[in-house]
This record gives sequence, C-alpha cells and structure tokens, in this order.
Amino acid sequence: MATIGLTDGATATGILGLGVYRPERVVDNEEICQVLDSSDEWIQSRSGIRTRRYAGEGESLLDMGERAARDALASAGVSADQVGTVIVATSTHTQHTPAAAPQIAHRLGSTAAAFDLVAGCAGFCHGLAVASDLVRGGSSSYVLVIGVEMLSTFLDPTDRSTAFIFGDGAGAVVVGAADEAGIGPVAWGSDGAQSDVIIQTPRCEHIDEDHPPVVQMQGQAVFRWAPFAMADVAREAVKSAGLSLGELDVFVPHQANLRITQLLTKNLGLGEDVAVATDIVDSGNTSAASVPLAMERMLREGAAKPGDLALLIAFGAGLSFAGQVVRVPTLG
Ligand code: UT7
Repeated sequence: MATIGLTDGATATGILGLGVYRPERVVDNEEICQVLDSSDEWIQSRSGIRTRRYAGEGESLLDMGERAARDALASAGVSADQVGTVIVATSTHTQHTPAAAPQIAHRLGSTAAAFDLVAGCAGFCHGLAVASDLVRGGSSSYVLVIGVEMLSTFLDPTDRSTAFIFGDGAGAVVVGAADEAGIGPVAWGSDGAQSDVIIQTPRCEHIDEDHPPVVQMQGQAVFRWAPFAMADVAREAVKSAGLSLGELDVFVPHQANLRITQLLTKNLGLGEDVAVATDIVDSGNTSAASVPLAMERMLREGAAKPGDLALLIAFGAGLSFAGQVVRVPTLG
C-alpha cells in the first residue's frame, strides 16, 4: 500500500477525527433570484450550485464552529482539556477582536492557546499544516482546527458575481500524533499581486455584527488562475509526499465552482477511479469550511472511505493557497 513520505526525522501526524455543522436553512436558487437578477438555469450551468445553507435566525459563527468542534472531538475520542491549541480559520468573524478561537475554546471548556487564522478560502488547509507542525514540534499533543464561515451576512444579495455563490457552515478536525503518516508536507504560497481580486469592503461607515463588510470578487480572474496555478501546487503536494497522482483515491479541492473543480481535475489528469468532491452543488462555496465539509459528505455517502489517500487543495482571497495529501479519517 502507498505510504505518505515525510521530511527525514519528522513525527507522523494524522487527522484523528472530523466533525461538521451544516445549518438547517436550505436556500435554493429560486429564493436567491427573488432579489438577484439571475436564474436557476444560469447559476447551475455556471457554478454547479443548486442550493446553499444559511445560518438560521440567532445562529452565530461561534455556534456553528462550536458544533463542528464538538463532533470532531467526539469522533477523535479526545477531550477538550487534552487540546493544546485551537485554530479557527475564518474570514467572516466580524469583530476580529476578540478572536473567535478563544471564545469557541471557552465554550468547549478549554483554556488552550487559541487564535484565528485568516487565509480566505485556503484557511482550513493552512490551519491543518500549522496544526501538524505544532504536533511535530512538540508544542501541542492535539490541535483542533475549525474552518467556519457565515458568508450569508457578508453578501450584497444584488451582486451578480457573489450573491449566489457563498454559503454558511463549519468543519473541524483534531490533529495528533499517528502511528503512520496521515498528513503530508504542505505545498503553499501566495500571490499578493492579485490581492484586489477578492476583497471585503465596508457597506457603511460603521462595521459591527449588524453591519458586516461585503465581499466583492472578480470571479473571472479567479477562474483564469485557479485551475492552472493550483494544478502545479497539487503536483508539488503529491510529489513532496513521495507519491504519484495515480496513487490518490480521493480529490478534495476547495469548493469554489464546480467548473473550476472539473477543469482542475482534467488539468491534473486524474483517472476516473479518483473520487472528486462536489459538495458545492448542495452547500455552495463555504470558503474556509468547504474542504472538511466536502470530505464529510464523501465519507457519509461512501465516495471515500477511512484510510483513503486524499489530495486537499484550497485557494482564495490573498490570493493564498495551500494543499497536502492526507489519509481520510473515520467519521464519528
Ligand atoms: O472561493 C474562491 C474565490 N471565488 C471563486 O472561486 C469564484 C470563481 N469564479 C466563478 O465562479 C465565476 O467567475 C462566476 C460563477 C462568478 C461567474 O461565471 P463566469 O462564467 O465567469 O461568468 P462571467 O462573469 O464571464 O459572465 C458571463 C455572462 C455575462 O453576460 P454576457 O456579457 O456574456 O452577455 C454576464 O453579464 O453572464 C452574465 N452574468 C450573469 N447572468 C446571470 C454574470 N453574472 C450573472 C448572474 N446571473 N449572476
């Protein structure tokens, strides 16, 4: 069986548990088009999206992150007081200060080191890399990584380039030492020359929870860049894990747009036997939550099984990107 290679002497780490939270409220394209000048047919053909989920009345980013974190801890069989670090990857925690991570840690009954990580839609894969290195370096035995977004409140519902794309949700994993390598070396980087492509801008003078900034995106610029630049990053992640693309079982790219996923899969030349994540169809683009949410769906629906070799690649605002090969964890 193929094994993930590590830098000489590095400790083996793995994803020990996975948990997600999908808000109950399902929003279909018809509802979006009650305000947006678009159509169900256009949205599905250009993005693959049929529905997305929005947080319910009174439901907060902290609530969603906490729910996913609790499930991840239960799935890993790790208690909150064993966690040494909590990392929350998000770009939609309106307050910034205080950060979301210490507040979620507190709700879980943990006084672990806790900080937020802002790397747009690539935040979860950044968090996974940092978590793995914290365990390898001996700083923490267990690290909780939570990707959570509440993009529904950051949208202009009349903006044709963003209103139909984004959704809300949370996904979390517990990272710890493993008998066999379950998280490969990260391939990551940034292209700050394109920092204007995805931005958050104030919608009024005063930013608070009731008046969050609004996301604006040059969708075509992302489209021209991601399917090609991310193929190189994917190859680097696979190579640095000592593997070949043919040894992969599963591909979990950030769920930005179904057409980007399809083009990236084609550019990588992945075989028909590699299962490819398509959670965007029902969940929309949930930014830093999309990779764990997509992995959970594949496990739940049987497209992936525990122990499979999965390539994760995430990209977004920054522009920032990160990817690594992992072993798919057991669900629940
Ligand atoms: O999460 C990481 C960051 N974000 C992304 O990864 C998003 C990446 N980009 C995309 O997903 C796509 O660029 C979009 C889905 C946002 C847009 O799709 P597109 O195929 O790039 O559309 P376009 O902007 O090239 O527009 C094509 C046509 C235009 O009409 P004409 O000039 O061909 O007559 C637009 O006016 O579609 C029109 N259009 C729309 N029509 C209905 C643009 N937006 C809409 C809309 N509904 N929402």
